[in-house]
Amino acid sequence: MIENMTKYKIALLKGDGIGPEVVQAAHQVLEAVARKAGFSLSFEEALIGHAAIEAAQNPLPEKTLEICREADAILLGAVGHPQYDEDPRRTIRPEQGLLSLRKSLGLYANVRPIQVFEELRDASPLRPEVIAGTDIVFYRELTGGIYFGQPRERRDEGNTALDTMIYTRAEVSRIAHKAFAAALARQKRLCSVDKANVLESSRLWRETVNEIARQYPEVQVQHMYVDNAAMQLIKNPRFFDVVLTGNMFGDILTDEASQITGSLGMLPSASLGEGVGLFEPIHGSAPGIAGQGIANPMATILSAALLLELALQQSEAAQMVRQAVQTTLAAGFRSFDLAQAHTPTAMVLKTEAITQKIIDFLP
Ligand code: IPM
Ligand code: MG
Repeated sequence: MIENMTKYKIALLKGDGIGPEVVQAAHQVLEAVARKAGFSLSFEEALIGHAAIEAAQNPLPEKTLEICREADAILLGAVGHPQYDEDPRRTIRPEQGLLSLRKSLGLYANVRPIQVFEELRDASPLRPEVIAGTDIVFYRELTGGIYFGQPRERRDEGNTALDTMIYTRAEVSRIAHKAFAAALARQKRLCSVDKANVLESSRLWRETVNEIARQYPEVQVQHMYVDNAAMQLIKNPRFFDVVLTGNMFGDILTDEASQITGSLGMLPSASLGEGVGLFEPIHGSAPGIAGQGIANPMATILSAALLLELALQQSEAAQMVRQAVQTTLAAGFRSFDLAQAHTPTAMVLKTEAITQKIIDFLP
């Protein structure tokens, strides 16, 4: 029996700030759900970000990349440390670890679902009737655009700085295909977000999306400028089904969209390419609350659910995890970020306690 059990290898990249706390939580949930669903997981930890700079003077040590390449899936917490903000000219930064990891593994498609838990309807700064029924999935291009374009440098004795916004047809095309395929399986509406009224790279983006659209005649395509999209997201979030956009616009719009769900602490993501996938909450390392044991682990736990579904093809286990999160919320338990004036103090739980509830509620 035991010998025949499917066994998967997961790389755990805890990273910085609240990263270790939320990854620890998701690790426990994964162990528990694997036991229930009858498969076996092995975990290997590796360094990234500030933690890796401290230990190995490198935000992405070779060893980490090796462990990731050999894994069936990667679960990451967060990277970032306030130390680097004081000296913006420091060339080695924790974020480089994550950016290099995405680039090295060819993880060009960052999938960010925005779903409202009914139980958190009134936790959003937006009115419940505005957010009701919101169900969006972002396809954010992740290995191109202004995040990676060259040249990027200081000139003029440091008084001029430049970054390069650059996209190739091939880069736009592969993420667009993923987004169109997703739209086909959903409401068949795709909104491509760009700034084609100003940027040449956006005009290529739009042109490419229109070419690919011909291969998906069932999908209704709309183009929207990013400034308008930022407004429509809070004005009428139900308008959106699949949103396809570039690296930086996707970064900004998904933080905005998190407020529809009540908290940045609720949003999972999957970073996919041709090989191993990386699963990461969309929030950062939150240094302000790190080490206090009060971080919301749900974004990482829901990222683990995406990992189960997309990397391990264990959809049932993924569903069990989502169900357990929902039951925890329905029972009235809240993490600190979700607590409201009317939430009874006894129902506001620290990271470990809310994780235990989620484990207890696994169906
Ligand atoms: C995200 C984060 C990262 C990004 C940072 C940490 C480099 O904000 O995943 O959204 O900008 O991609
Ligand atoms: Mg971001």
